[in-house]
Amino acid sequence: MIYLKTPEEIELMRKACALVSDTLGEIAKWVTPGVTTQKIDTVAREYIHDHGATAACLGYGGFPGAVCCEVNEVVVHGFPSNYQLREGDIIGTDVVVALDGFHGDMCYTFPVGEISQELYDLCRTTKESLYKGIEACKEGNRIGDIANAVQTYCEHRGYSVVREMCGHGIGKKMHESPEVPNYGRRGTGPIIRNGMCLAIEPMINLGSRNIVIERDGWTCRTRDRKPSAHYEHTVAVIDGKAQILTTFEPVYQVLQDRFI
Ligand code: MF3
Ligand code: CO
Repeated sequence: MIYLKTPEEIELMRKACALVSDTLGEIAKWVTPGVTTQKIDTVAREYIHDHGATAACLGYGGFPGAVCCEVNEVVVHGFPSNYQLREGDIIGTDVVVALDGFHGDMCYTFPVGEISQELYDLCRTTKESLYKGIEACKEGNRIGDIANAVQTYCEHRGYSVVREMCGHGIGKKMHESPEVPNYGRRGTGPIIRNGMCLAIEPMINLGSRNIVIERDGWTCRTRDRKPSAHYEHTVAVIDGKAQILTTFEPVYQVLQDRFI
């Protein structure tokens, strides 16, 4: 069942989303060559706890971190580790916070120092496709319209769309109905209604769309080991259209002219 949120519940969602946005801003300060993904996880974890919230990924189904760390070919669900970021890497950091009973979920893929034009274009296109999906998220449209907007935008530019992982409804639970895939046909799937809260999250590959799950049972990487990018916002449908509850603004403030 798709649970539609009341205006009061959406206000609580907004608070969780503001905190997760600020957390990404904190992470942005640490994304630099030599820093371990474990350090990034610790910084985020402490920031979330200091603000009276819970890092919802930590312990979720046994996940060992507060932050999913997606370096280069890792698509989603990478563990924080002693890996030291290197100049030229990209790293997606996917964070979920729970505050006063509601969740905010977002992801930003950062450049580590100077990155290649190829990686920049991959990240840029993935982020733009997120906004194409959000534009299609209107009352009366269907989930397939979001999916198709993302897919069309990325595939026309020569990238491929991961199919096994998708966005989702969000609220009192991190994962609620409906699933929000990043590929599909227009006019298919559940109808979008006012009060729906969705996490929209394109995962886009430079090479083929195929993925494998590592033996740790979590880490999802591209089969061809080519890079993958991932951006995510939590949105609420209000007065017929999607309002973005999370924001990349704290990230942009740190990255300044290095933002993607
Ligand atoms: N943003 C991810 C998602 O939407 C976070 C879940 S990862 C987990 O699925 F670690 F919490 F499982
Ligand atoms: Co999500």
